[in-house]
Amino acid sequence: MPKKMIHEFHEMKRKGEKIAYLTSYDYPTAQFAEAAGMDMILVGDSLGMCVYGYSGTIPVVMDQMIVHAEAVRRGAPNTFVVGDMPFLSYQSSLEKAVENAGRFLKEAGCDAIKLEGGRRIVPQIRAIVDSGIVVMGHIGLTPQSSGQLGGHKAQGRTLESAKALIEDALAIREAGIHMLLLEAIPPEVAAYITRTLDIPVLSIGAGVDCDGQLLIVSDLIGQFQAFTPKFVKKYCAVAETITNAMKAYVADVKSAKFPEPQHTYSMLKEERPKFDEWLKARGK
Ligand code: KIV
Repeated sequence: MPKKMIHEFHEMKRKGEKIAYLTSYDYPTAQFAEAAGMDMILVGDSLGMCVYGYSGTIPVVMDQMIVHAEAVRRGAPNTFVVGDMPFLSYQSSLEKAVENAGRFLKEAGCDAIKLEGGRRIVPQIRAIVDSGIVVMGHIGLTPQSSGQLGGHKAQGRTLESAKALIEDALAIREAGIHMLLLEAIPPEVAAYITRTLDIPVLSIGAGVDCDGQLLIVSDLIGQFQAFTPKFVKKYCAVAETITNAMKAYVADVKSAKFPEPQHTYSMLKEERPKFDEWLKARGK
């Protein structure tokens, strides 16, 4: 299947075709996602928690994101890949924002970037869009500012907060975003934003009426153990599967059931008698 590009996602919205979107952080998972027919992959800064074991996304830096994005690109050459801008890669200056956004395209071959925030990052969005880069906005629960939000909490649950989210969505669309991700907001607020904007609106915990859905792969496969957000659906339990396989391996090693003859290499036929003779000469 040829890689879908941004205009095709806009077309999918017009036709009412849902967009399947998943995070990936490495080469094999990206291969699986592409084989599964994923429309879009996010190399999310959630890799801070899912891959590196940090308690949040704040410690993640650009160089880490680029290494993972490169691996994902190699694993999914025919899938639209979005690079997620980590904390402080775009907030401190417009030059830095454009430069770091450009790194995802130049160094990792990404198709777009995503950044968190509403009205307060309009200048950064304008600058990145003006440099020719496809941009996905991200509002609602924005993990990089979870300190200000009072933790990883759903947003838009009061009229005031819902109105603020809608203002944010309109402002960043006006600034030029090409797609929008809504995280952990009530479905009725998400449905209004989806109806109102002329661009694809993706949901992670924002209900079924959005134009597509995102899940974090480590949640989908049951790998991430620390906590499970309400919006997660687990499709398998790899943590259990892997742990059980490792337990079986430990037991086999301890009882010398592994390796078996089929897991070993034989000496070359003509060398074996010579080796036996050599051992004999050494008295072994
Ligand atoms: O980093 C990520 O995976 C994200 C999602 C939580 C939306 O930004």
